[in-house]
Amino acid sequence: IFPSSPFPLLPGLQLLCLRAFALPGDAQASVFPTEATLPRGGSVLVNCSSTCEEEAFLGLETPLTKEELDRGHNWKVFELSDVEEDSKPMCFSNCGSSQTLAPISITVYRLPEHMELLPLPPWQPVGENLTLKCQVKGGAPRAQLTLVLLRGKEELSRQPAVGEPAEGTATVLAGRGDYGANFTCRAELDLRSQGLGFFQNTSAPRQLRTFVLPMTSPQLETPRILEVGTSEKVVCSMDGLFPASEARVHLALGDHRLNTTVTYNEDSLSATAWVEGTAENKGDHLLVCAIMLGNQSQESWRNLIVYSFPAPNLTLSEQEVSEGTQVEVACEASVGLRVRLSNFSHHFIDGRHFSCSAALEVAGQVLYKNQTKELRVLYGPRLDESDCLGNWTWPEETNQNLSCQARGNPLPWLTCLRETDRAPLPIGDLRPVKKQYEGTYLCKAESPRGTVTRKVFLTVLSESGKNVLIIVLLTAGAILGAVVLAIYLYNRQRKIKIYKLLKAQEAAAMKLKTQATPP
Ligand SMILES: *[C@@H]1O[C@H](CO)[C@@H](O)[C@H](O)[C@H]1NC(C)=O
Ligand SMILES: *[C@@H]1O[C@H](CO)[C@@H](O)[C@H](O)[C@H]1NC(C)=O
Ligand SMILES: *[C@@H]1O[C@H](CO)[C@@H](O)[C@H](O)[C@H]1NC(C)=O
Ligand SMILES: *[C@@H]1O[C@H](CO)[C@@H](O)[C@H](O)[C@H]1NC(C)=O
Ligand SMILES: *[C@@H]1O[C@H](CO)[C@@H](O)[C@H](O)[C@H]1NC(C)=O
Ligand SMILES: *[C@@H]1O[C@H](CO)[C@@H](O)[C@H](O)[C@H]1NC(C)=O
Ligand SMILES: *[C@@H]1O[C@H](CO)[C@@H](O)[C@H](O)[C@H]1NC(C)=O
Ligand SMILES: *[C@@H]1O[C@H](CO)[C@@H](O)[C@H](O)[C@H]1NC(C)=O
Ligand SMILES: *[C@@H]1O[C@H](CO)[C@@H](O)[C@H](O)[C@H]1NC(C)=O
Ligand SMILES: *[C@@H]1O[C@H](CO)[C@@H](O)[C@H](O)[C@H]1NC(C)=O
Ligand SMILES: *[C@@H]1O[C@H](CO)[C@@H](O)[C@H](O)[C@H]1NC(C)=O
Repeated sequence: IFPSSPFPLLPGLQLLCLRAFALPGDAQASVFPTEATLPRGGSVLVNCSSTCEEEAFLGLETPLTKEELDRGHNWKVFELSDVEEDSKPMCFSNCGSSQTLAPISITVYRLPEHMELLPLPPWQPVGENLTLKCQVKGGAPRAQLTLVLLRGKEELSRQPAVGEPAEGTATVLAGRGDYGANFTCRAELDLRSQGLGFFQNTSAPRQLRTFVLPMTSPQLETPRILEVGTSEKVVCSMDGLFPASEARVHLALGDHRLNTTVTYNEDSLSATAWVEGTAENKGDHLLVCAIMLGNQSQESWRNLIVYSFPAPNLTLSEQEVSEGTQVEVACEASVGLRVRLSNFSHHFIDGRHFSCSAALEVAGQVLYKNQTKELRVLYGPRLDESDCLGNWTWPEETNQNLSCQARGNPLPWLTCLRETDRAPLPIGDLRPVKKQYEGTYLCKAESPRGTVTRKVFLTVLSESGKNVLIIVLLTAGAILGAVVLAIYLYNRQRKIKIYKLLKAQEAAAMKLKTQATPP
């Protein structure tokens, strides 16, 4: 045995070892401690001793750096330093011709060098399982190393560290409540049974974002057609979003993105944009609304036709003409439009209205545009039977309406005066008609274009004729009544006289009776 060169000896040692254990009662090598757990790079003191009765030769077989610190009778204390990994040094004792061995078990512990919670998906749909993975490199002894996955402070799983790197997993069903939750991974090295501490390392947290995007298309309200030079509102909205404020909207007409204003509510959003019809975007387009949340999106689209429809041009060679003049009226429209010229006149408006109308069919819908112009026709005053009735005959004290109105363009000035005393003709409501209105009036309508006159005869049927008859009848009635009264009164007078006479006779008779029978 050559203690200074330990390596080649090891197979021999094993043989001897067998022999040593096979012969009990012999001097025994022993070591203290038999087991040691130390941090990586640490050192340990080992007392190697022998029960040999004589002076034994003691030594420590190890590839580790060793130093003899102390010695006594049949014992030696060594210091093993810079212990980087697990090792099993052997203490040997050569007592006489026999060699005995005592192994030491040195366990090196170390904290993980690297630990990481693998990246979470940037967005996790609510209701789907999420698998968390934790990776730990280094860390020993493995038997005492446990991996714990956590959501906030809540433990999701706990498992022994196996493999290099060791991997721990946990599955969670993502919910709305996990939005913003922090997940971490913790490695626990429990060396309390070795009389050492409880060590733990925690990975950097990873924050999760969960979302809900319903499997429905956004609601898109848009016009079907849009005229060049006009703007229309487009509204795209969606309900049931979580978190609504994280949703993004893309509203575009063809390749052109629209300037969009988005308003967010608790679980919905509404995006508004104005789409403008320009000469450049004339034609058929697809209006698209996409709502994006998480790594998903929902789309809606509609067709939009941008059309150009210039109003037709109506031209009159003159705006204001004298009666009988020839006027040129033109109605023009762009190519491809149907045009129609029509004319109509309104009551009380002196002239004629021309309308030029153009029609355009867009997406099965016929659109009209028209331009109307007034042609004013100038003419002198008119005052005929229909404007002012010539002969009026009304009974006195009745309610009547006298209408008299001159026509002409410009509107004539009308005066009606009685021929006899130049009293004005009472025009309008006459309630009641008076006898003094009667007469012949001369009406004159004047305008820069001439003067016309017309006589108006106003006859009021007097009520005096009827009165005479009534008076006659009343007089006759009165006379008759007087005669009848006279006759009656005469007859009554006579009856009273007779009565009085009869009463007088009775009284005389009574008087006679009284006198004829004295007491
Ligand atoms: C080493 O061990 C022997 C035997 O057990 C003992 O007598 C001795 O005191 C120990 N030395 C030290 C320094 O502890
Ligand atoms: C683990 O924790 C120890 C101290 O507690 C620290 O020195 C070491 O760098 C940590 N390891 C990792 C991977 O964070
Ligand atoms: C969105 O992310 C989830 C989870 O990361 C994944 O399963 C899914 O395939 C992704 N969907 C799309 C449309 O990218
Ligand atoms: C999620 O995983 C659990 C088991 O871990 C399983 O029972 C469940 O059906 C899964 N759910 C979904 C939506 O995949
Ligand atoms: C997660 O961590 C971030 C930053 O470290 C913090 O702002 C947030 O409040 C944490 N979330 C929860 C649910 O604790
Ligand atoms: C978008 O609209 C806002 C107001 O509605 C306006 O201030 C802004 O200038 C517009 N941006 C563009 C690029 O048109
Ligand atoms: C109508 O007239 C205007 C100017 O006079 C002209 O610019 C326009 O092109 C005309 N429209 C049509 C339909 O002819
Ligand atoms: C206008 O209409 C009247 C009938 O309503 C017709 O006599 C006249 O010729 C029309 N004039 C034009 C210019 O079309
Ligand atoms: C002309 O347009 C006006 C409104 O713009 C409409 O009221 C009228 O009916 C139209 N006239 C014709 C003849 O189309
Ligand atoms: C009114 O009637 C009289 C006859 O009754 C007639 O002579 C006169 O012409 C009439 N006047 C008008 C304006 O019609
Ligand atoms: C009287 O005639 C004029 C014109 O015809 C009319 O405007 C007015 O309402 C009439 N009055 C009554 C009480 O009928």
